[in-house]
Amino acid sequence: MKKILFLYAALLTALMISSCKSEENTAKTTGVDNETIQTILSRKSVRSFTEQAIPAEYMEAMLKAAMAAPSGSNIQPWHFVVVTDKSQFGRIFEDNFNLKTFNSAAAVVVFCADTTVTRPPRNNPDGDPVTRPNGTWRDDMGACTENFLLAAESLGLGAVWTASYPDPVRFLTMKRELGLPDNFLPYCAVAVGYPASDEQPKDKWKPERIHYNQW
Ligand SMILES: Cc1cc2nc3c(=O)[nH]c(=O)nc-3n(C[C@H](O)[C@H](O)[C@H](O)COP(=O)(O)O)c2cc1C
Repeated sequence: MKKILFLYAALLTALMISSCKSEENTAKTTGVDNETIQTILSRKSVRSFTEQAIPAEYMEAMLKAAMAAPSGSNIQPWHFVVVTDKSQFGRIFEDNFNLKTFNSAAAVVVFCADTTVTRPPRNNPDGDPVTRPNGTWRDDMGACTENFLLAAESLGLGAVWTASYPDPVRFLTMKRELGLPDNFLPYCAVAVGYPASDEQPKDKWKPERIHYNQW
């Protein structure tokens, strides 16, 4: 009897493990098996890191990916401050509840947006160029941040996007302490490094949210 009970318990455990595993895998499985899509589906927020430094060419590759993002009228409103000097973290990210995450990261990249840049003048029949404000800087910065996160994932690094603007507690201290010009805002800060934890991507696939031709 004891033997049967033991076998039954072992079978149940095996079934539970395999069902957990298949749930984990759905996030990474799609009909189209392509490296880029795999990277997108594998990305997850990582909030604890090892002490390993990020190779300079990796940081450059991630920033290059960030700068390849689309932007309204190709305005590219971004600049980046890469902070690696941990002794400065407390001063720059003071009052930011993500400070514990930042402290374990190899670098915190502050994504800075020029909110005053204007779009190129539209061709005007009178030859009088019309200056148009850039209304898309938030969208541009979001696309740029996601590109950076995906590049980090593809290089085996972990990263987390942390909000800055419009929370004055976060963005005003960063703006002051990093010496940003008046027309720039710290849009967000991304902590990046080698993951210390085994985070798994969340399965966010919801086919019921897709509507064809009409809602
Ligand atoms: C605009 C934005 C702001 C975020 N701010 C924070 C933050 O301040 N702190 C944090 O730990 N995560 C932050 N995140 C990460 C989200 O919590 C995370 O993306 C979400 O829980 C989904 O998890 P995943 O990234 O692992 O898919 C932010 C993400 C976005 C897009």
